[in-house]
Amino acid sequence: MAEQQSGAQGALSMLFGTPFMSWQWPDSDELNRELTGLILEREASDPQGRGIRSNAGGWQSRGNLITWSEPCIQALKERYEAMVFNLLGQIVRKDGSERRFQLLTDAWANVCRRGDYNVVHTHPNAMWSLVYYVSAGEPDPSVRYGGALELLDPRESANYIQVQHTILDARSFIENIPGRMILFPSWVKHMVHPFVGDGVRISIAANVNVVETNPVKP
Ligand SMILES: [Fe+2]
Repeated sequence: MAEQQSGAQGALSMLFGTPFMSWQWPDSDELNRELTGLILEREASDPQGRGIRSNAGGWQSRGNLITWSEPCIQALKERYEAMVFNLLGQIVRKDGSERRFQLLTDAWANVCRRGDYNVVHTHPNAMWSLVYYVSAGEPDPSVRYGGALELLDPRESANYIQVQHTILDARSFIENIPGRMILFPSWVKHMVHPFVGDGVRISIAANVNVVETNPVKP
């Protein structure tokens, strides 16, 4: 490595970052059990679901999950809304005015068994996408990234400037840990690596559009 010159001590900051949130909801076992039972019941009664989207194998429910009347779905809705409002609270400019938002949500369940995966995709016509993990199944620990969600770096060729194992590493893997909820912009490309193992891997995804009900005056 070249000798470092003294005097060039500018602070590092990141430009054009991609917002990402992750939260592990406590006390989720019972909720996840109820969601698992309900989703598998729906799969059995509606094998077609919403058809083939990004999923290669597996099953996706119709996109009206958030309107299902079961209490576990309503509990989930509260969690989704809490996270999006948390995000909004962190990104809006604090100028003393009260700002109100309404959320328009489209949500669906994903069920994967051995060999199922999701190809690289984005969620068009949405602002924010969330995932809530319900069941991890029994993944084979010898398979690296099996069933993992991978978020792809949106910057073209960003890895061109990198040496390995730095804070700039571009691959981001999210493990299915029941109770975990994540949020990211809907334009971020992502995929789910093939699930290898026994049991069922279940997640719930949602697209949320945010509408400001008292728009900021110009
Ligand atoms: Fe997706």
